[in-house]
Amino acid sequence: MKRVITYGTYDLLHHGHIRLLQRAKDLGDYLVVALSTDPFNAIKHKSSLYKYKERKIIVESIRYVDLVIPEKNWNQKISDVKKYSIDIFVMGSDWTGEFDFLKEYCEVIYLPRTPEISTSGTIRRLRK
Ligand code: CTP
Repeated sequence: MKRVITYGTYDLLHHGHIRLLQRAKDLGDYLVVALSTDPFNAIKHKSSLYKYKERKIIVESIRYVDLVIPEKNWNQKISDVKKYSIDIFVMGSDWTGEFDFLKEYCEVIYLPRTPEISTSGTIRRLRK
């Protein structure tokens, strides 16, 4: 059984998110999503329209997702990989290289982002 993990905010869910989760799940058998909490988003100077509890309900309902855990800080990745016996760490290509330090603990794969869609872009368009 191969276990995969990915991280993100997943606010205003869109097809780019779904395609990322679908391809992440295809790499293994069990997908964990570490979902940024609201305080962690604030640390990242990001704010989500939907709160953590709401985003968790949505992400948990996706067929490719087996478990949602909170992402509370930048430093939890190594302990998450060990705790959940992760084989593959996956992120979109906007993060290429950022998490290569995890290669000591598991495989690290950056998947190409789906073009022309992002939550922040959608929010900007709605505000215009
Ligand atoms: N992602 C993707 N393709 C997109 C948008 C996001 O593959 N078009 C991936 C990201 O690379 C990340 C995951 O989806 O691995 C969660 O991304 P997140 O930052 O929550 O979504 P974005 O839409 O990029 O949000 P924002 O614009 O606010 O950063």
